[in-house]
Amino acid sequence: MYTQAMDLAPKEEQRHVRSLEEVELMRRFDAKIDAGDYVEPKDWMPEHYRKTLVRQISQHAHSEVVGMLPEGNWVTRAPTLKRKTILLAKIQDEAGHGLYLYSAAETLGTSRDEMQAALHSGKAKYSSIFNYPTLTWADMGVIGWLVDGAAIMNQVPLTRCSYAPYARAMVRICREESFHQRQGFDALNVMMREGTPEQRAMVQDATNRWWWPSLMMFGPPDAESVHGTQNMRWGIKRISNDDLRQKFIDATAEQAKVLGVTLPDPELKWNEARGHHDFGPIDWAEFWRVVGGDGPCNKERLAARVKAYDDGAWVRDAALAYARKQATRQEAA
Ligand code: 3HC
Repeated sequence: MYTQAMDLAPKEEQRHVRSLEEVELMRRFDAKIDAGDYVEPKDWMPEHYRKTLVRQISQHAHSEVVGMLPEGNWVTRAPTLKRKTILLAKIQDEAGHGLYLYSAAETLGTSRDEMQAALHSGKAKYSSIFNYPTLTWADMGVIGWLVDGAAIMNQVPLTRCSYAPYARAMVRICREESFHQRQGFDALNVMMREGTPEQRAMVQDATNRWWWPSLMMFGPPDAESVHGTQNMRWGIKRISNDDLRQKFIDATAEQAKVLGVTLPDPELKWNEARGHHDFGPIDWAEFWRVVGGDGPCNKERLAARVKAYDDGAWVRDAALAYARKQATRQEAA
């Protein structure tokens, strides 16, 4: 007997003949998703659901960890002790997010070593946004305002993701991302209100450079999103790429007015009939170039991660040796 139910696996997998038992398991899984219930690690799940979660959660974890690099660039050059402390706390939060997410992915039967090997070999993706350089201090504020702002818009619906460990991790991550967004907006607000003309120009320049890449964070248009439809049916994603992007633009256009910066899109304007802002075309060729490894900082980012991993080998070895020693002592006691 053949069934596809909600599991639209790749073509070869769809030809796989399912046993009656599997069909029943699938039926119960679909019913659970339809009822809005959560899936726990030990529950039965279709292989394609498991794989798509490993893909998304590990990409997300890699994004958090690679995302520390552009900001790490400014720790030693933060203008005041207060701003340095905030920046350090934010970067540490991102490391924590990476750890929660790698742990959530591990509950699906993949190991951290496998995920990291995929990142370091260039096989795994991470968010396109972290392949852009951070040229001035205003970039730190704009990353908080726009990049973390886009991340929250995308990630709040993930607190209702059907896979429970991912949803639970996202609750805490979103609380912390909200602080990240606010600290960025606050830093920019101070520069715009109390700063010199040069500082205001710096904020405008950073906004010009980060606006379009931030819109690309939501992924390709719905019509070109490979995983979108299936992920929505499985309750992994709750809102589509285009709808999230529109919500972000609507919210941010108002925030830009409060800050006193201009968003670099001459076609951006409120459309009363749609109840949304219209906006100009996004350069999807640039997006795919960056995703494909040819962005301004792809090589630098990956090299930094590989170096950090290699430099940390002695720490992992020491931790393992200590754990072995503890285990031997406990066995002997
Ligand atoms: N950067 C890199 N790759 C991207 C991308 C982006 N901005 N947007 C989409 N892609 C990739 C997809 O991963 C997919 O490639 P794959 O098949 O090789 O995995 C391909 O482009 C097609 O995209 P789809 O729309 O079909 O993919 P999804 O349905 O998975 O949607 C997504 C993409 C919206 C990014 C989704 O995976 C998602 O919501 N992920 C969780 C959130 C996340 O990863 N956020 C990272 C942002 S930054 C961050 O978290 C750090 C914070 O501190 C700022």
